[in-house]
Amino acid sequence: MAFPFQTDVSLAPFNTFGLPGTAKRYADIRSASQLVKLVRSGELNGDRVVILGGGSNVLLSGDIDGTVLHIRIPGRELIGGDDDYHFVRAGAGENWHEFVRWTLTMGWPGLENLSLIPGTVGAAPVQNIGAYGLEVCERFMILEAVDLKSGALMSFDFKDCHFGYRDSMFKHEGAGRFVITSVTFRLPKRWTALTRYVDVARELATRGIIDPKPLDVSDTIMAVRSRKLPDPAQIGNVGSFFKNPVVDARHYAELLATFPEIPSYKQIDGSVKIAAGWLIDQAGWKGRALGQVGMYEHQALVMVNHGGATGQDVLRLAAAVRRDVNDRFGVSLEMEPALI
Ligand code: EPU
Repeated sequence: MAFPFQTDVSLAPFNTFGLPGTAKRYADIRSASQLVKLVRSGELNGDRVVILGGGSNVLLSGDIDGTVLHIRIPGRELIGGDDDYHFVRAGAGENWHEFVRWTLTMGWPGLENLSLIPGTVGAAPVQNIGAYGLEVCERFMILEAVDLKSGALMSFDFKDCHFGYRDSMFKHEGAGRFVITSVTFRLPKRWTALTRYVDVARELATRGIIDPKPLDVSDTIMAVRSRKLPDPAQIGNVGSFFKNPVVDARHYAELLATFPEIPSYKQIDGSVKIAAGWLIDQAGWKGRALGQVGMYEHQALVMVNHGGATGQDVLRLAAAVRRDVNDRFGVSLEMEPALI
């Protein structure tokens, strides 16, 4: 039986920036086996295929003259464990934050620092989401993905994923080829709170919490995030718009000589990561708009939709910000979300 595609579907409700665009063909995917069948049927052959999860890390450039696979595979369960870890699996379509809160209420902590990050479970490993001293790769065990070339359901372990800062092989050689259908996490049985991040430590102190439990950490992170980052349900955005750039030691020394207050983080290889939000702020873009988009007033690294923005508005502001930061600091900013 032919797959029940929908045609000319508006994608505005499915991307958190709220950008306009339609998909010529649209498939609502609810299981890995359904996707395997669809690939093997040959119905996708010759068509451009775009994979969409929670739509919180993509920029829609306009209409998509191809097929959008909207991954909405549900499911979450404890699948096992050993002396040190609980193994917890979730379907790629599960909402990330709801999944994190569920693990905490079940008594399997470890993901609390990643509370309130928008998007789905399946998108988390793609860009190796991270916040407040934790990256998801530190809790990752294995994932399953369907190969769009062969229709095979494959497993990828930590090494296969080539995780980096906001990066994995699913953004490079695996892009457009593997569709993640489930992810399994390894959550530590001997848990300690990760609260070294200044904003988090300060908020815990304000709340008078000395020995935080996992849900306390999650609540605290949610409060800290909410102050700085706009809620996509209210103001269209995709979180950090640029990655924090990494410069070599010499370039950093030059910058430091002129800008002694520059926020930076030394990397193990001697290079230095610089806060892009600070660079954009200093370049005068914090709270400033161009057309229907602007850089957020409380966190200059986040681009926001002031209403009715198009993909072209986004690209125009991105180019202006990159140019000004480059002129002032000689640093080149790289976009974090994927352009589709
Ligand atoms: N800063 C400014 N002005 C601004 C924004 C930031 O001066 O407008 C300064 C801050 O004062 C601070 C430094 O820049 O000294 C860093 O800012 P912040 O602590 O807010 O973190 P970030 O580096 O801008 C990263 C992640 C966020 C994550 C936070 C917290 C990236 C690209 N972004 O932001 O991730 O929530 O750390 O861990 O790595 C995301 O990826 O979508 C995201 C929101």
